[in-house]
This record gives sequence, structure tokens and C-alpha cells, in this order.
Amino acid sequence: MQTIDNRQGTLPGQELAMLLAEMRRGTPWRDALGQLDLPILSGKRHWFTDVGKARYYLGLPAATRQRALDIGAGSGVIAQGLADGFEQVVALEHEAGWCDFMRERYAQDGVSRVTVVHGSAVPRLPFADAEFDLVVVNGVLEWIPEAESSLGPRESQLAFLREVRRVLRPNGVVGIAIENRLFLRHFLGGSPHGEAPFVVVMPRWLADWYTRRKRGSPYRTWIYSYRGYHELLRDAGFADVLVQPVLPTYHTPEQVVDVRDAHAARGAFGTPGGIGRAVLGTLTATGLLGYLSHSFYIRART
Ligand SMILES: C[S@@+](CC[C@H](N)C(=O)[O-])C[C@H]1O[C@@H](n2cnc3c(N)ncnc32)[C@H](O)[C@@H]1O
Repeated sequence: MQTIDNRQGTLPGQELAMLLAEMRRGTPWRDALGQLDLPILSGKRHWFTDVGKARYYLGLPAATRQRALDIGAGSGVIAQGLADGFEQVVALEHEAGWCDFMRERYAQDGVSRVTVVHGSAVPRLPFADAEFDLVVVNGVLEWIPEAESSLGPRESQLAFLREVRRVLRPNGVVGIAIENRLFLRHFLGGSPHGEAPFVVVMPRWLADWYTRRKRGSPYRTWIYSYRGYHELLRDAGFADVLVQPVLPTYHTPEQVVDVRDAHAARGAFGTPGGIGRAVLGTLTATGLLGYLSHSFYIRART
């Protein structure tokens, strides 16, 4: 069986436990995060502190600004940012440790508009129909199949997105951040969620066969291309789907551009030499580079 620790793009359980222990000793959350020198935490501090990660979502055209839901809220950084634009924010998270972290964080920062709900997004969202103007799914859709093993990866993501649609009000908006399956570096062996090299760009049947052989468990952290996300959202019943590269990545969002803006996308790839430069130059000239960027912001309407 593959070991899936409860890291899910955040922190390994042991590091989160050490962070919480430090806070229980009385260290303010920001100081605890800044002081602890742990392998994963040290490289991701800004993931938990940059409330600018909520900016894209605050700009989405929600009909009213009453209630927003952040699914898989993790450290709570985005829910905290959403509280600047919505009367009430609900932060749903299935890791008890992160819920403890969020409650303490909000208490220390005097954030009163965010309610933390400890629970899973699958198989059903623990909310009534049409409760929210905005639902945020930042770095979470790819993990949904891990929590819903009775369905295939795409089916579980579709069922989840239909649930998102159910809890949105008429004219409600969903905002999603997620990696691009066709990110250029995936063709060089890069792996977004701990998969073996090249698995993410293999045909699904081959990726599954190879992962079962190598790890003894199926390949489930499916991500998609620009076109694949359009199809997924449409199949889930959403309208007005817009998929845009977020540069350089959704973890450190600086710019959201049109997918055809290859020149903007070029900046996110740095300055390689030799053949790398030639490849990037060609992909920029042909207008394809935006389709090969690291990640997308996606928005859609009910
Ligand atoms: C990559 S982190 C993203 C955290 C946060 N959204 C952010 O961008 O800063 C994914 C989060 O989703 C949570 N998660 C994954 N599956 C979930 C589920 N089925 N129900 C609730 N939370 C879930 C994980 O525990 C983790 O905190």
C-alpha cells in the first residue's frame, strides 16, 4: 500500500504536531512558524502566511458578499484573506491538527468572521443547498480521489464538484487553483504530488499500471490540461468556465494571464541556457507556452 502521509501539499503530520506543540508552549503562531527549522516547513512558510493567496478569489464576480466557503482550508491563510471581502467565511478542513492551528491563528489575529468546520468534503459537503456565494478550492481537487476510494479519480472529482455546485447559490461562483498536467517540466520527469517521474503525463491506464507496480496502489491524484479542466467543470454542470495560467505558480501567485499570452508565461520559466532556451523560445513564438505553465486558476458559475 502506498504511504500517503497527511501532508497533502501542506506539512507532514510530525511537523504539524511540532508546530502545534510550540504554539501550546505559548509561542505566537507567526513566531512558531518562523522559528522552527523543519525540512518541509522551512521551505513553505509563505504558503501559510501570504493572505495575498485570496486576492484572485476576492476579485471573482460573486452576486453578493455574504458567505464564502474555503474547502481544504489547511493553515487557513486563504479563509483569513476572504474575511476582508465576505461577511462570513467557513473554513472546512479534514485534518484535526490544521483545525486547531486555524482556531488559534484566528484567535491571535482577532479574525472573527471565519468559522472553522472539522469535516470531510466527501462524500457530501456538510452544508445545506445554496448556502454560499463563493466556494474556493485551492490546491485540493487533486486530493479528493484519495478521500473517496469507492469511485474512480475523475468520477470522485466530478461528484465533489457537483456537491460544490449544490452548496452554491444561483449565480454563485467557484474558484479553483490546481497544477497543469501539461506543465513543461512534467515532460522532464517533474512530479507535482509525489508520483513517480513521468506518471503525470503518461496515458492514465499506463500511469495507473505503473504506479500499482511501483507502489502497490492506484494512481489517483489526477490533474488535467487546460482543455481537460474545461471538460471537467462542464461535465459537473458549471457554466462560463474560465481557465487562466497563474504565474509563477498558484503557491506564489503574482499574475493571472490569458492562456494565449505566451510572452507573460515565458517569465515564469527563468533563464535556462542551451537547448532549454531554444525550446522556450519556440514555444513562446508559437503561442503555446501558456498551455504549458505550472498551474491554473479556474472560475465557473453555477
Ligand atoms: C494543498 S493543501 C491546501 C491548503 C489551502 N487550501 C491552501 O491553499 O493554503 C490541501 C488541503 O486540503 C485538505 N483536504 C484534502 N482532502 C480533503 C477532504 N476530503 N476534506 C477536507 N479537507 C481536505 C488537506 O488536509 C489540506 O489541508
